Amino acid sequence: MAEELLLDTTLTKAEKYRQLLPQIEALTTGEPDLVANLANTAAALRQAFGFFWVGFYLVKNDELVLGPFQGPIACTRIRHGKGVCGSSWALAKTLLVPDVEQFPGHIACSSESKSEIVVPIVQDGQVVAVLDVDSDLLNDFDHDDQAALEQLMLAAARWF
Ligand code: SME
Repeated sequence: MAEELLLDTTLTKAEKYRQLLPQIEALTTGEPDLVANLANTAAALRQAFGFFWVGFYLVKNDELVLGPFQGPIACTRIRHGKGVCGSSWALAKTLLVPDVEQFPGHIACSSESKSEIVVPIVQDGQVVAVLDVDSDLLNDFDHDDQAALEQLMLAAARWF
């Protein structure tokens, strides 16, 4: 297993994802532990892009429960259909929110979070978790983030 990420800061965002995703694949291949893989994925994303908060919420019974993350402390439980994370779970689709204040029912774990992307992890047709990435900048996520993070969460489904 590589001990350090190779991160070329001169690359565009899409290129950075292309450099990072195989490294996350290598970090997690052969590791059967879910928490270990989610934890390293959150750390790798935050290290590569400097996002304000990166983490996972896991579906447990009828709620999302906070899982491995990097960043400030966060809300521990989110109800189905509530906030961006609970809505992504309910709709089973990625939600890209350029301005969290414009999202009805957004759950503000931190007032510093300004924009957000939430990508569900779907296994056998069921959402098992969501990846939540928050930025302290408005409009910080675009289709490059969505495409790369969806690709990553497709691979993440096999950790469950
Ligand atoms: N803002 C999220 C809650 C999770 S925190 O941002 C880490 C939401 O509305 O679901």
